[in-house]
Amino acid sequence: MNTSVSTNTAEHAWRALDKHAERLRGAHTAALFAADEARLPAFSVTHDGLYFDFSRQRLDAPALAALLDLADAARLPQGIEQLFGGARLNHTENRPALHMAMRDDALLPANSDTDWAANRERLLALTDAVRTGQLCGATGEPFAHILALGIGGSELGPRLVCEALAQPNARTPQVRFVAGLDPAELTFALAGAHPERTLVLIASKSWSTLETLENARAVRQWLRSTLSEAQLAQHLVAICSVPAQAHEFGVAAERIFPLPEWVGGRFSVWSAVGLPAMLAVGSDAFRALLAGAQAMDRHFRHAPFAQNLPVLAALIGLWNIHALNIETHAVLPYAHGLRSLPAWLQQLDMESNGKRVTRDGTPVTLHSAPIVWGGAEPAGQHAFHQLLYQGTRTAALDFLLVGNPHNHPMQRLLAECGIAQAAALMHGRSLDAARALLVQQGKDPALAPHLVCPGNQPSSTLLLPALTPHHLGQLLAFYEHKIFVQGWLWGINSFDQFGVELGKEMARALHNTNRRPDPAATALLTALARSEGKA
Ligand code: F6P
Repeated sequence: MNTSVSTNTAEHAWRALDKHAERLRGAHTAALFAADEARLPAFSVTHDGLYFDFSRQRLDAPALAALLDLADAARLPQGIEQLFGGARLNHTENRPALHMAMRDDALLPANSDTDWAANRERLLALTDAVRTGQLCGATGEPFAHILALGIGGSELGPRLVCEALAQPNARTPQVRFVAGLDPAELTFALAGAHPERTLVLIASKSWSTLETLENARAVRQWLRSTLSEAQLAQHLVAICSVPAQAHEFGVAAERIFPLPEWVGGRFSVWSAVGLPAMLAVGSDAFRALLAGAQAMDRHFRHAPFAQNLPVLAALIGLWNIHALNIETHAVLPYAHGLRSLPAWLQQLDMESNGKRVTRDGTPVTLHSAPIVWGGAEPAGQHAFHQLLYQGTRTAALDFLLVGNPHNHPMQRLLAECGIAQAAALMHGRSLDAARALLVQQGKDPALAPHLVCPGNQPSSTLLLPALTPHHLGQLLAFYEHKIFVQGWLWGINSFDQFGVELGKEMARALHNTNRRPDPAATALLTALARSEGKA
């Protein structure tokens, strides 16, 4: 194995896994289920209200044992301690990855110039002041709208938390997000908003992101349509790691909230980047979100691997990629509040582990991150599930279900739909069963091949007892740690993202110096120019 934690023991553990892969590649999970009465208890874990069922994965007890051996052989326990101990695991940028310290003061680095705990309290105090109308705009009007500018990690996490936890019809300011460059997005977000009653949050860790800075300039102009230059500062908040630049833009020093360099954008919802969510859900709910994530951190750090939710999920993911050659991972939330989870997870996973070299710069010898996709359910059932049933590919699936604490009949139906899909996608329908069905329906049995569903789509199901701040915090931290474990086992640095810079460089060159990268780009620019002024 070509990993930074590569040892003879780890290589041996990877080879042992190959043997199980050969054995199980052609197996059907329904048969594994039938052969082992104790499968469900052995392939499910209950922890702090969460129920994690991985019995529908195409692996058996010896394969699972081999995966757990791999985790030990690859020195995962040491990796976890290095992560929590603040080791500079992001070696290409010479920094630790300590996002967990944003939810656990005990993990804060001792030598920091900034008091991060005090900073969080400042954020939550601002949250309370805005939500209660104590803090108003320059003309004395309470804030009715919060405009949150930011993209990638500076948008996806807070948007997800807002959608999952904000109450409809709350008598608190409405949060609207703007991420991209299409002016239509900003127009929609500003519809019905008034500068005097709008607070603008500009979140950009680097304060150099084209989309966010262009939106910030446009919104500044919009604010100026009503407010004076002197009043502007009372409507602006900046979240970034370069305060001087935010100040230069016109944000008052006391309204600039710093970000530590050791919190990556895609892991930053727990930090000041979470401010839109704090404002949407309130300080108590945000504290509960942090506590839920912290509880998952402790579970991850201390639970034995055989009971450790993020470790198990990571090992199962690895198995699906390496043993079963599955290229994609679909995330299927059966909860309206989790509709943005696939997008958040897409960045978390693909930006972290979408890498082709190991920590020492040598090529990886195995595939790294899967292609992550998915969407809110049950809409997917009526759209892309067809391919899962009868297409030619296998996808690894995560079903996310939420309990029914209010005994709502529709909530129950929704969860039942998810349970049924996981079962149907595993069992499938045989040719014989298809024929029998057609005969029973008085139809031509020759149509049977069109009704066959091979099943055997591997899935895990995670059930949250309710969509509360605590359980949402657990869920997001669960995925963060899963991604870390996989990166560690592949021996890659999960915390940099140099790849995304190439496209940014080309866009800058194209815009600033008119440099054409190739004839295709020249032709497109010509067509674009032809379109201009022709509305
Ligand atoms: O271009 C990718 C990226 O740097 C992400 O890693 C990040 O979450 C996003 O852009 C936004 O970056 P920033 O917060 O610096 O504007």
